Amino acid sequence: MNKTFTLKSSKCKSLKGIIYVPGDKSISHRALIISAVCLGNSKIFGLLESDDVLNTLNVLKNLGVEIKKRKNFFEVYGMGGFFNDPLKELDFGNSGTGIRLMIGLLSTRNINATFVGDISLSSRPMLRVIKPLLGMNTRIEHSDGLLPVSVKNNNNFFLPTKYNLLIGSAQVKSALLLASLNVKGTTQITEYFPSRNHTEIMLKYMGADIEVKKKNKKNIIKLKSPSFLKSKDINVPGDFSSASFLIVSALLTEDSHLVVKNVGLNFFRTGLIDILVKMNANIKVVNQRFLNGEMVGDIEVFYSKLKGVKVDKSMVTRLIDEYPILFVAASFSQGTSVFLGLEELKFKESDRLVTMTRALRDAGVDLKTGKESLKIFGQKTQKGGNFVGTKNDHRIAMSMIVFGLVSENPIVIDDSKIINTSFPDFYEQMKKIGAKIEFFQK
Ligand code: S3P
Repeated sequence: MNKTFTLKSSKCKSLKGIIYVPGDKSISHRALIISAVCLGNSKIFGLLESDDVLNTLNVLKNLGVEIKKRKNFFEVYGMGGFFNDPLKELDFGNSGTGIRLMIGLLSTRNINATFVGDISLSSRPMLRVIKPLLGMNTRIEHSDGLLPVSVKNNNNFFLPTKYNLLIGSAQVKSALLLASLNVKGTTQITEYFPSRNHTEIMLKYMGADIEVKKKNKKNIIKLKSPSFLKSKDINVPGDFSSASFLIVSALLTEDSHLVVKNVGLNFFRTGLIDILVKMNANIKVVNQRFLNGEMVGDIEVFYSKLKGVKVDKSMVTRLIDEYPILFVAASFSQGTSVFLGLEELKFKESDRLVTMTRALRDAGVDLKTGKESLKIFGQKTQKGGNFVGTKNDHRIAMSMIVFGLVSENPIVIDDSKIINTSFPDFYEQMKKIGAKIEFFQK
């Protein structure tokens, strides 16, 4: 029988160091996709070479885009938005971002392509992108709202859309924006719950005619097309979501001091910092600057005695990927934390409300779940000692590994490979700062 190895984390003394995290996953996907639409070659520095992003890269190659790995950058030879019909299915593995953005992009390119993914992606809802795209006169087939999804060449005459986006989803917004790049006229999206705006920033940087206006709490986004996108060099900052595991590890481990350098600080990504500061965290953001339209900087963290916090629905789009690690922070905080408006957690790589609740409860955490809410009764020490089913979800895997650095007994996760989805050198970076984490034979 084959031996399988996974990861185990154990209580450790102090975490110290100055480190870099790999490139931002959201920006890496967009850098590849948008430079493929430009005419000419773009150089991408700092691209995240994780499974999710490499899947998008390979899909673009299958569509006829030439992409070369050079010494310290990737070079994309954009063909101005011309793609070949792929000879095989487009496999996006675990990546909701890759697949949803590419369904959008290809839906208005008059090609035939079928989209598939792994077991987790195959259970995630696709109608949220398909429905608004159909409003642009596209032809898309699906399997009861799930994968496989196919875009069809119908020699269509595509139409611009005016769409009210009632869920806070950057993936849906981006799918629509990428689709509208090839549709004559002005596409307008009214975002009721504004979400990460990497697509808008990058499109503007590459020369698209895009404007965003705030109205009350909504954003009105207008994109005039067809736009001529100019190929440009793109620098991908470090991924704040990956940094969040290191940040929380240092906050919870006594005598720790950590600096994470060159991290993306987009407003819609950094809600975790605001919440942790409310919880009494000693965090400083320094050296802030702009890099191809995105704010970046360094984050300095010291061990802190955290207290409970209330987080309401208004924070969801600024915190969406950080809830699992925030639940870990809340577990070790003094007092009760309350999280409201968590519906979107159900549609991630796993149902994160269910997966995290199970993992934390098994680790001895006192908590109470509602339909879309969670209450955690935190305390300084937690038992741990459990085996975690990660459900093909990288963020569950890393969050619970962080839990095991602080709990009385070690944590073992069922699958360490899934971490490659977003943070391929998680083990090495954790080791570098002194974490007690090792491969474990099942
Ligand atoms: C992402 C948007 C978010 C986020 C995901 C990445 C993106 O998803 O959870 O990890 O890059 O646009 P939703 O847009 O579905 O909320």
